[in-house]
Amino acid sequence: MRRKIVAGNWKMNLNSQEARQLASEVVNMVKDEVRNGVEVLLFPPFVHLSQVGQLVVERKNIFCGAQNCSALPSGAYTGEISASMIESVGAKFVLIGHSERRQYFNETNEVLAQKVLRAFENNLSPVFCCGELKEEREKGKHFETVSRQIEEGLFHIKSSDFSRVVIAYEPVWAIGTGLTASPAQAQEMHLFIRNLLSKKYGSLAGEISILYGGSCNEQNAAELFSLPDIDGGLIGGASLKSRSFVNIIKSMA
Ligand code: PGA
Repeated sequence: MRRKIVAGNWKMNLNSQEARQLASEVVNMVKDEVRNGVEVLLFPPFVHLSQVGQLVVERKNIFCGAQNCSALPSGAYTGEISASMIESVGAKFVLIGHSERRQYFNETNEVLAQKVLRAFENNLSPVFCCGELKEEREKGKHFETVSRQIEEGLFHIKSSDFSRVVIAYEPVWAIGTGLTASPAQAQEMHLFIRNLLSKKYGSLAGEISILYGGSCNEQNAAELFSLPDIDGGLIGGASLKSRSFVNIIKSMA
């Protein structure tokens, strides 16, 4: 079944106390929504993963995940964090291919395809991010970009695993800019992605949750989430305050 998901990507924000406070507030404020089947995912920085994991462990439909994982399983790679370490502190998800990783850390589709494998080997569900740059949309190349990201980053996954993938469409020009894709632009791309998935995985495509991300907030979430192929959101800035994040979750419910 296609799940309704609202995810908060905290990026490189919040100290330990702030992370604990935000996670506890969210957990306490979304009881009805999660009871009604909305899944809430929290993506804190690595160092807070363990404590946030403990706060959500007993909660139905609230999970935490990492913002990234290494493409390698283990070994002498100073500063890297493996998928198995992430799983061992209670995380269930991992963001893979966020545009900031692609842009500032040169992560290619080839490397991301490896990260997706590491996630599956360690029982983590990948939230695979895709999205075009402003110039690509202006030149009409946005479908081409997104299909290449998905084909090269995800299509090596076998059907039996694919149902655990979540996709987040985040146009790069909308991330952190206050510009949101219009509901029509977002729905058009989400449907395009679902059709692409169905060419490879058949009816499984109907089961995959496709989230929208990019300046999603309390004002625009309800309209975006009402569209037939938008199954939730990946929220950056607006996930750092419990009130605004919870209001976005309520607009999903
Ligand atoms: P934003 O970030 O909501 O601040 O635009 C979204 C994201 O990067 O996941």
